[in-house]
Amino acid sequence: MCGIVGILAREAVAPQLVDGLKRLEYRGYDSAGVATLEGGRIVRRRAEGKLRNLEARLKAEPLNGVTGIGHTRWATHGAPTEDNAHPHATERVAVVHNGIIENFRELRAELEATGAKFSSQTDTEVVAHLVSKALEAGATPKAAVQQTLSKLRGAFALAFIFRGEDDLLIGARRGSPLAIGHGDGEIFLGSDAVALAPFTDEVTYLDDGDWVALTRSSVEIYDEAGAPVRRDAVKSSVASVVVDKGAYRHFMAKEIAEQPEVVGHSLTRYVDMTTGRVRLPQGADFDFSRLDRLAISACGTAFYAGLVARYWFERFAHLPVDIDIASEFRYREPPLAAGSLALLISQSGETADTLATLRHCKAKGMKIGAVVNVPTSTIAREADVVFPTVAGVEVGVASTKAFTCQLAVLAALAVKAGRDRNVLSEEDEQKLVSSLIELPRLMAETLHLEGEIEKLAQTFAKAQDVLYLGRGTSFPIALEGALKLKEISYIHAEGYAAGELKHGPIALVDETVPVVVLAPFDPLFEKTASNMQEVAARGGKIVLVTDAEGAKHAGDVFATLVVPTAYAFVNPLIYAIPIQLLAYHTAVFMGTDVDQPRNLAKSVTVE
Ligand code: AGP
Repeated sequence: MCGIVGILAREAVAPQLVDGLKRLEYRGYDSAGVATLEGGRIVRRRAEGKLRNLEARLKAEPLNGVTGIGHTRWATHGAPTEDNAHPHATERVAVVHNGIIENFRELRAELEATGAKFSSQTDTEVVAHLVSKALEAGATPKAAVQQTLSKLRGAFALAFIFRGEDDLLIGARRGSPLAIGHGDGEIFLGSDAVALAPFTDEVTYLDDGDWVALTRSSVEIYDEAGAPVRRDAVKSSVASVVVDKGAYRHFMAKEIAEQPEVVGHSLTRYVDMTTGRVRLPQGADFDFSRLDRLAISACGTAFYAGLVARYWFERFAHLPVDIDIASEFRYREPPLAAGSLALLISQSGETADTLATLRHCKAKGMKIGAVVNVPTSTIAREADVVFPTVAGVEVGVASTKAFTCQLAVLAALAVKAGRDRNVLSEEDEQKLVSSLIELPRLMAETLHLEGEIEKLAQTFAKAQDVLYLGRGTSFPIALEGALKLKEISYIHAEGYAAGELKHGPIALVDETVPVVVLAPFDPLFEKTASNMQEVAARGGKIVLVTDAEGAKHAGDVFATLVVPTAYAFVNPLIYAIPIQLLAYHTAVFMGTDVDQPRNLAKSVTVE
């Protein structure tokens, strides 16, 4: 999951390369680099760590060339050092790469046997040497790239510049996204429309297998077989929105606070506020009546949204759901019925495992639905029907507002499925929908807990292990709470179904282990309350998240966070907020990099 950009500019290209990379940092930030042609020669500037280190390097050693490529890296092969930073180059060609070349070891051995000298541990450097070798054998840049592509196995988005070729930029994609941006006397390549937004909103999305040869005045697109193809330019919907933190210390804080608003925006696309009924967006009006099963797949936080949705589809639509994490789903070889629906959930719409699962289900003849936050993403473009979330650009690596928007959209879809399958009365639909309409207010109210949670965070910051417990639709929220804490504070945390505690995990409990219990006062509360007493009896520090009625029955707990009382249907979106805030303030207290936690990237575009 790296970000790549390439530009044929009218003036010094380095500042534009950095501007494009800034928008791609969410894809990885272990190192960054650019290469330009200076008097026809390839010159690179690369730096370990964040993009600001590359900016400092460029300030100290400026580049003036008008042709260039850039890269921001999430390390797959080789440590995040300067030597392993892209672009990788020989005298004749420089290349940036997003993806994984699966056969790079055998290719590297063959190249070294012919005398090639490598300076990095990366798979990408193999690509530079293969193209260079073809150029030395007399191939043109286009032919050299085409020959090289046929030797590569794996996923890639690539961009190349060539010694002495000031007006040539070549790109290729297979399994990783790549788009062309059309400027005025300039032309761009980028991993996605977000990277291109500072320069243009006229974008051509390349299909899998395409490769392109660009000049400032021409665009040649070829398919995998080398036949010329046309791909239409479209207006990118990713306007060059200025994404900044505003008055917030971190993007994550801003995005947590935005949830009432963006969940409201998402709901207005799915709910008719006047009739109090679900009404799917234009072009997304899916009829669930003929479905007899539903498959759901996603990764990480998006998967937890799917887990909540399973309860809703089965409860309100009596629709059996097969659900699994995307990296396991297709390898299980689940029996999939042609014509049934596969629902993929993804904030970025570029997650490799989720995309691979989409393609697996499509190959089985399933209809493909996608709940995505980026309507121009690969998953969105390959789905039969897109159910957009309207969370806005989510910059924080830890997903928050996208998660609750996914839940809002999935809730509406579950109600629609119940109505289509005639198992949900109009009256019940209106009850469920009115609880959705109340959500922005209830979520805003829940945000008022922030002060209490900030104090609690100081206890959590000292913990080595934290447990999160929940039942019913609070169980996936417990899993999400553990993931949030892990990924930004680096504290080990596990989420469990509360009823599962006594089957082993309770052995972990002692006075050093905070236990977060998510328990609205519902029919399951009593059972969860006894789980809490089992924890308390072993000295565990219980933090109970509940509503006013539940707080009256809290018993012996370390702390109680009281959230608004709501219709059970919408509790997952309300209980998500305290666990997000707890993770955020714990991480802030610990001084970790909240928006760009170590080892992570916002979009995991490698399997
Ligand atoms: C969430 O906080 C994580 N950053 C991660 O689990 C993420 O949800 C997962 O990688 C899926 O990403 P997607 O929604 O863009 O597909």
